[in-house]
Amino acid sequence: MEIITTVKNMQTLSGKLHKNRYIGFVPTMGFLHRGHLSLVDRARSMSDIVVVSIFVNPKQFGPSEDIKSYPRDFKHDRRLLEETECDILFYPDVEDLYPQGYSTYVEVEGFDTTLCGARRHRHMRGVATVCTKLFNIVRPQLAVFGEKDYQQVIMIKKMVSDMNLNVEIVTSHTVREDDGLAVSSRNIYLNNGERKDAPVLYKALLIGKRMIETGENDTGNVLEAIREVIEEKKSSRIEYIEIVDKESLKILKRIDRPAVIALAVYFGTTRLIDNILTVPGGISKECSGKC
Ligand code: PAJ
Repeated sequence: MEIITTVKNMQTLSGKLHKNRYIGFVPTMGFLHRGHLSLVDRARSMSDIVVVSIFVNPKQFGPSEDIKSYPRDFKHDRRLLEETECDILFYPDVEDLYPQGYSTYVEVEGFDTTLCGARRHRHMRGVATVCTKLFNIVRPQLAVFGEKDYQQVIMIKKMVSDMNLNVEIVTSHTVREDDGLAVSSRNIYLNNGERKDAPVLYKALLIGKRMIETGENDTGNVLEAIREVIEEKKSSRIEYIEIVDKESLKILKRIDRPAVIALAVYFGTTRLIDNILTVPGGISKECSGKC
């Protein structure tokens, strides 16, 4: 695996590779886990060259969020990537991506008024900006994103379409622990009690999904059932639970089309997100094997 640490070197290399190789790309913020690695496997199966980036992007952290405490472990990440047959690791400095005087941002309208975008100031703009920059530097024909960050991947698809970027966006399913908790870099911050409580999120999402798929179409009733299950856990504090259209992310009053139940819940001071796809009156394919 080649490790590239400057924008210039990455651009030189991708300029050469891009001509006759299909480049698959997985952007990450590091502290890699099985969820990230599943995206690398997906990219591997669809491309000639796999590039993974590790960059903790300051532009997507709000003023009240502490970027310094974001977990990092480069040696561990490098070892995992070597084991997954990643070809190129792009690991740039903040000053290289955002030099003094940096002032250009990409904003996909409407994404800062719903779900996580509405709660995390300028988060979505930061993600859109860094992904545009990384796409320009790495020049992938394909990029893989996790369904776990549902709003993020929908926004990236919209941005790619609106800006005519020549990259196919592939979505990969959420990897979970055996008890259903979505694998996340943030799970290490949960204490024992919180870790025991946290799988309630997936349990509650499955309950909501089952209600919808067996005929309940009133959003209020589904939300109430989900809320009740989560609130049984003492360490939980709900930030939001929403049921939105699968494509437009518009809030649904009646669940009459493919939808996503998305939520953000604190356990102690750790904020976890999760979501599930659902099709009214039918079993959606994401359900197969799990529920
Ligand atoms: P990060 O949180 O490191 O996630 C990188 C990718 O891994 C994202 O596409 C995310 O959806 C995916 N991922 C995380 N947990 C997963 C899981 N349990 N199963 C499957 N995929 C999972 O998301 C970001 O970084 C950043 O916003 C980034 C896109 C890199 C821009 O800075």
